[in-house]
Amino acid sequence: MDADNAYLEAIRHGRYSEQVKGLRCKYDHVRTQFEDFITTYYLRPYLEQVLKLKESSPGSEGLRFYDLGCGTGDGYELLSKMAREARLSQFDTRLIQEDMLDQYKGIDLSVELLKEAENLFGDYEHVDFCKRDFSNGLPLEEGEEPYDLYFTSYGTLSHCTNEELEKLFTDMGKHANNGSLILADFLGRYSYEWQNLWTKNPEEVTYMDYVINYLYAEEDRDEVELSSFPMRLMTPDEVMAILDKAARNAGVKLEVERFFDRSLFVGRHIETGTYNGNPQPLRLMVSSLFERGLRTYFPDLKVDYKPRSGFDEFNAPLQVLAESWNSLVDYTMTLMEHYDSNEELLPYPPQTSVKPLERAYRVMRQTLEGSKGLYGDIRADLIEAQLGYAIRSLEMNLQQGKGLGHGLVGIIRVVK
Ligand SMILES: C[S@@+](CC[C@H](N)C(=O)[O-])C[C@H]1O[C@@H](n2cnc3c(N)ncnc32)[C@H](O)[C@@H]1O
Repeated sequence: MDADNAYLEAIRHGRYSEQVKGLRCKYDHVRTQFEDFITTYYLRPYLEQVLKLKESSPGSEGLRFYDLGCGTGDGYELLSKMAREARLSQFDTRLIQEDMLDQYKGIDLSVELLKEAENLFGDYEHVDFCKRDFSNGLPLEEGEEPYDLYFTSYGTLSHCTNEELEKLFTDMGKHANNGSLILADFLGRYSYEWQNLWTKNPEEVTYMDYVINYLYAEEDRDEVELSSFPMRLMTPDEVMAILDKAARNAGVKLEVERFFDRSLFVGRHIETGTYNGNPQPLRLMVSSLFERGLRTYFPDLKVDYKPRSGFDEFNAPLQVLAESWNSLVDYTMTLMEHYDSNEELLPYPPQTSVKPLERAYRVMRQTLEGSKGLYGDIRADLIEAQLGYAIRSLEMNLQQGKGLGHGLVGIIRVVK
């Protein structure tokens, strides 16, 4: 199977499953600081409601999670490390303590990935991994209890056709408890990374030939022969149409709590140019902002957005984000220059009607003001990290959940 081969090649290359975090690997800083954060940030309030409900129902057990396409058990890591609001003086920030988890079950097609998942998390109590295929519906054992969260991550559901998705959502709708959640993670149809693949007809089902070439250095990318596999590109309307059918089949309501776009300019393929003639090293540069002890080359951090004519509806919000992002980088550079010339008062930011940008400007000015006299390389370790968070906040607050990011994610509640 093509997808299985492609994941196997990535594993063999050594950068897909290894737990190395940093600049260019599966677990780079964008994955950990942007993408995992964004998913948990949006999911958290709904999961907290489920937790509260559990705590208030006498005799109810802990949380049960089902991770479809679990890979190396990434969902377990993401959910178990999910943070709650915590004061500085508090040490443990985990939302889900070990005794709150009744079961985490992860399934995948790839034996190699499951082996790695077992190595990493197999010894934990209540954690199970098994080889199962979700293309014919939700794999379940006889009498298997419902789950509180049916979880997918990083575009996993884009492996499915419409028919497979309808069956999968129907099965989840039937199997879930009233109030259970589904986190449905697809590839966005109008991501800038694959601007060449944008099509106008909303009725047309679009797939891309996905290739995991982003883990290779630029100079090696064209040398290696890699398998590709079809991935479905999605808009919220397309997801809703499938959910409507599945809800009718299952006799339940599948209510979308929200959609969000994840990684509008930092998706994996922004750098490869495989599906867009305008590749830019933005993911690497943003990752570099979070790398301690390393200064980032700011000119490469700016977005060069080239609109595609005839697609104003999608160009417009992406251009607002690109302009805000670039203005923030420019302003940070100006602040650093003034800081270097020992000016008493750092310059105030330009006027803007974009509220998230106004806040980001304020935070950057405050960071530089407050950093005078601190220890260490304050550019590499403090200013750049804050700029990374500020860019993240622009991406989060200027996205509209319309399929304009690498990931389009829906948080769905099953109502019975
Ligand atoms: C995009 S990866 C996500 C992996 C992991 N969840 C993560 O967060 O990195 C999709 C995963 O789904 C698995 N997969 C694809 N089709 C599948 C199927 N029909 N049944 C089970 N797993 C499948 C792949 O092997 C792969 O591990």
